[in-house]
Amino acid sequence: MLKLARFLLIPLCLLACIGVAIALSSSPASTPEALNGLTDRPLVIAHRGGRGLWPENTQFAFQRASDLGVDVLEMDIHRSRDGHLVVIHDRRVDRTTDGQGRIRDLDLSQLQALDAGYRWTADGGQSFPYRGQGIRIPTLDEVLKAHPRQTKVIEIKVPDADLETQLCQQLQAQGQTQRVIVGSFYERSLQRFREVCPQVATSAGPSSVKLLVVLNWLGLSDLLSPSYEALQVPEEHDGLPIASADLIANARERGLHVQLWTINEQADMQRLLAMGAQGLITDYPDRALQLLGRQTALARQDD
Ligand code: G3P
Ligand code: CA
Repeated sequence: MLKLARFLLIPLCLLACIGVAIALSSSPASTPEALNGLTDRPLVIAHRGGRGLWPENTQFAFQRASDLGVDVLEMDIHRSRDGHLVVIHDRRVDRTTDGQGRIRDLDLSQLQALDAGYRWTADGGQSFPYRGQGIRIPTLDEVLKAHPRQTKVIEIKVPDADLETQLCQQLQAQGQTQRVIVGSFYERSLQRFREVCPQVATSAGPSSVKLLVVLNWLGLSDLLSPSYEALQVPEEHDGLPIASADLIANARERGLHVQLWTINEQADMQRLLAMGAQGLITDYPDRALQLLGRQTALARQDD
C-alpha cells in the first residue's frame, strides 16, 4: 500500500502542478462588442425571427421582431447553388415553403420565387394567414442591410469553407463585424470561421460545450480559456442536463455570455433567468418581453 502511494505521489504532484499552471495562465473571454450596451438586462433573442409568431427566417419576421423591440435576431444560413448566402433553417425548402428540393441544388432566383410564408400556421393547419403575401427567403445581405444596428446571431448550418469565408466578407463589407455573434453545430466550421474572421464573436461549438460540462463537473472550470464569447445551450441534451445553475455561474465567471434555447414558456423563462441565464432564445419573444415588464406593442424601428 505504501509502495503504491509512493508510486502515485510523483505523477499526482506533477498533475497538480500542471493544473495550477494552466489555471494561472488561463484567461476568461471578453464581452462581445455586439452585446455592449445590452448586457445589463436579460436579452430577448428572437429565434429564427420569432417563428412562433410569424414565418421563420424571413424579412417579415425580422422586421416585426425588431419592431417588437427584441435585443437580438437569431437566424440560420445556407449557400445556394449559385453561391449566395440565404437565410433558411433546413437543408431543404420543403418544410417552410411551397417548393421542394435542397438549397444547394437551387439558384437564388429559384429560391426567391418560393413562398416562404406558405406553411406557417398558428392553429395546427386550419389556416395559413401568410400564404401569397409575397414573403420569400431572404439573402443574408438583404437582412444585414435591413437591420444594420440590430445585434444578430447567425448560425452556420452547413460546414463549408466557402460559406464561412463569404460570411466574413459580407460582415466586413456591411461594417457589421461588431454586430454579430456566429454560432454553429459544426466545430470545424467555427474553427475555420475564427481563423478567417477573428474580429467576430462566436459561440461555443458542441465539443467546447462538452469540455465545459466536463470541467464544470470536475470542479475545474477555472482552467478554461475560451476561444469563444457566448455559450448558447439547451437546458438538457439527450436527457443529460447541460445548463445547471452551477454551470451557468462558472461559465459567466469565465466571461461567457450565457444564452438558453429554445425557451418558449414563461415559467421556464422565469426559472432559467433565476438560475442566471443572460439571454432567452425564444420562438415567442413577446412572452419574454412581457415577463420582463417590457413593451410588447409593435413600434416601428429604424433598422
Ligand atoms: O442557437 C441554436 C438554436 O438556434 C437552436 O437550433 O435548430 O433551432 O437552429 P436550431
Ligand atoms: Ca438556429
